[in-house]
Amino acid sequence: MNHLIAPSILAADFANLQLDIEMINKSEADWMHVDIMDGMFVPNISFGFPVVRAIKKYAKKPLDVHLMIVDPDRYLKEFKEVGADGIIVHYEACPNLHRTVQYIKELGCRAAVAINPHTPVALLEDIIGDLDQVLIMSVNPGFGGQKFIEHTYKKLSDIKAMSRRYNPELLIEVDGGVDEHNVERLIEAGANVLVAGNSVFSASDPSAAITHLKNPKGVSRS
Ligand code: DX5
Ligand code: ZN
Repeated sequence: MNHLIAPSILAADFANLQLDIEMINKSEADWMHVDIMDGMFVPNISFGFPVVRAIKKYAKKPLDVHLMIVDPDRYLKEFKEVGADGIIVHYEACPNLHRTVQYIKELGCRAAVAINPHTPVALLEDIIGDLDQVLIMSVNPGFGGQKFIEHTYKKLSDIKAMSRRYNPELLIEVDGGVDEHNVERLIEAGANVLVAGNSVFSASDPSAAITHLKNPKGVSRS
């Protein structure tokens, strides 16, 4: 499949969100990635329901909601109600992950599980068949603009091999430090959804940066 691009709203201008959302609407981006941080699971707080609802009001692309929060089950229904199309929970935050994944599906959302840089891909073996999407964190969650962790390439190859065996339709997303320099190698390693925050919103022309990530030279289309 052709890879998808999900610009991360975390790096947008919060005083002018509508403008950035309209830029994404008109761009070649496929989704909008929405980072929710609770100051507990990660050492940072981003934003909550009213902001997601406001984003949804203008967004013409699906919202990919990344929950970096403890005990996400408490809030899944509300995130669906304010506009989530896909919901990503963290493996490290869900003691009853299978139940959580089923609940996300019952809500009618795409069900995704994220793993932190220290969490082995192998731990997903017994849940991968139930998932629509996995998210391989390529930085420690909590902040935009961090340096990409090189070990991620191996994790992407490993999850790609696991998906061939158990779930060939699986979406494999990578999040953190994605830019024009690593995009081709990430796709070659197995990623088919790329989240990009700073590399898009810090660019002089964010829409052109999205186009570049969507159409990198050297990636053959099939
Ligand atoms: C980090 C978030 C990311 C972040 C990515 O915890 O999950 O989605 O916005 O930002 P960049 O692309 O700047 O690393
Ligand atoms: Zn994210």
